[in-house]
Amino acid sequence: MGPGALIALSLLAAAKASVGPSNSSTGSLCTESKECLVFDPICDSPKYEVRHYGATKWVSTDVESYVLEIAAGQGFMRLFKYITGANEDGLNIDMTAPVIIRIPEDKKMWEPAIFTVSFLLPSAYQEKAPKPTNEQVYFTDLPPLTVYVKSFGGWMLSMTSKLYSRQLAKELNGTQASYNTAFHYGVGYQSPMKLRNRRNEVWYVTQGEPVCPPPTSS
Ligand SMILES: *[C@@H]1O[C@H](CO)[C@@H](O)[C@H](O)[C@H]1NC(C)=O
Ligand SMILES: *[C@@H]1O[C@H](CO)[C@@H](O)[C@H](O)[C@H]1NC(C)=O
Repeated sequence: MGPGALIALSLLAAAKASVGPSNSSTGSLCTESKECLVFDPICDSPKYEVRHYGATKWVSTDVESYVLEIAAGQGFMRLFKYITGANEDGLNIDMTAPVIIRIPEDKKMWEPAIFTVSFLLPSAYQEKAPKPTNEQVYFTDLPPLTVYVKSFGGWMLSMTSKLYSRQLAKELNGTQASYNTAFHYGVGYQSPMKLRNRRNEVWYVTQGEPVCPPPTSS
């Protein structure tokens, strides 16, 4: 079996367990939920990480706003209502992690933008989930994704999202990595109620072969 077949096999295996227990090695970023989005690590360095995620189903909503914070709050509430009964079966669905927000890159300060907030559906609902009662809430099927990742503590705010996505973009531009420059994902692992040891990430979606960061000398 050639290396190509091995990679294809490991990607297949990854796709089967895209949502897994938070106590697994690659689900350990999730500290508050039973289930977590799991990934295959491709490379890791203080500059950035590269990860591969299998295909996943999410429940999403779009919010038009001038400000990330407002969009995130409104989107979070709509999706929280969906998982706490605002669905055609009146079901309660477990919260998972992370929550992701698709943040457009080219937003001008004086123009509103569309932010898409998404909750990961638990493994029991990955195949089929009850229909939302709010027509602003819909399902998203994300294809397998390879992403560049930069992590940071504190809060996912307009300022931090911009700061860390720029840092990541700078590193990626420096290593000639190509990525989708139209948007980044803001990724949060804790509920807004948790005040300490918060973990956030910004992601850019790779284009073409992922580029690992050069080894650091320090
Ligand atoms: C993770 O938790 C599940 C359910 O609580 C348990 O069955 C499993 O053994 C745990 N796995 C590890 C690696 O601790
Ligand atoms: C990185 O490169 C992209 C594409 O050329 C460019 O649009 C962007 O401004 C650059 N970002 C930084 C932080 O250098």
